[in-house]
Amino acid sequence: MGKDVIVACDFSSAQAVYGFLDKFTGRKPFVKIGMELFYAEGPDVVRQIKARGHKIFLDLKLHDIPNTVKKAMAVLSGLYVDIVNLHAAGTSAMMEAALEGLTRPDGTRPLLIAVTQLTSTDQQSMERDLLIREPMADVVMHYAETAKRAGLDGVVCSPMEAKAVHDRCGRGFLTVTPGVRFADGDRGDQKRVMTPAEAKKIGSDYIVVGRPITAAADPVAAYERCMAEFVD
Ligand code: C5P
Repeated sequence: MGKDVIVACDFSSAQAVYGFLDKFTGRKPFVKIGMELFYAEGPDVVRQIKARGHKIFLDLKLHDIPNTVKKAMAVLSGLYVDIVNLHAAGTSAMMEAALEGLTRPDGTRPLLIAVTQLTSTDQQSMERDLLIREPMADVVMHYAETAKRAGLDGVVCSPMEAKAVHDRCGRGFLTVTPGVRFADGDRGDQKRVMTPAEAKKIGSDYIVVGRPITAAADPVAAYERCMAEFVD
């Protein structure tokens, strides 16, 4: 899979997401389905969106004991999504078990990427609540390297971190980057943002874009603008 724009479909019902996707009569965007929609509607919403011809990043961020994650990943693999994820904090043993669970009898599997430290965690809360006292940038890079050694395909990271991740983990290790805004757009609650063109320049493999597309007056035009800046 090459560079692509992934549209974060942060809707609370299947009806809302289908209404949104109905607008895309030309190119079918790669979509991200998160916990809210998945917990509300269950695996059927994934099957329906897949049947409409979309690639899917199922963003459920698994984190449990290795055996439980292995079995859960085997279920997700059966949905034939394209990308799934987990927390690198679950350790190498959990990540290796996840890969085993994801791999189908014919050897194929969805891409598996890791969340390092959530962007909602800052240095202070990491030190206070998790007793991790290293600088955040080192922690993020260590988690990325651990994920790479465990055999994962990449990480979710800020576009600001994408170059460092590629330098440390190799160009083939995928960087999937949210925090993308148009130069003339509303930033919402995102603080450190890049435009799609900048994200392309620094080497992001996939950008995850939500509100700049989902809340646009013309979502299809906003998606095509993103594709034009990042991919085409
Ligand atoms: O609407 P917006 O473009 O900000 O959406 C970005 C998407 O990426 C949301 O689904 C958000 O949960 C997700 N995300 C993020 N920052 C991270 C990890 C995930 O914005 N560090």
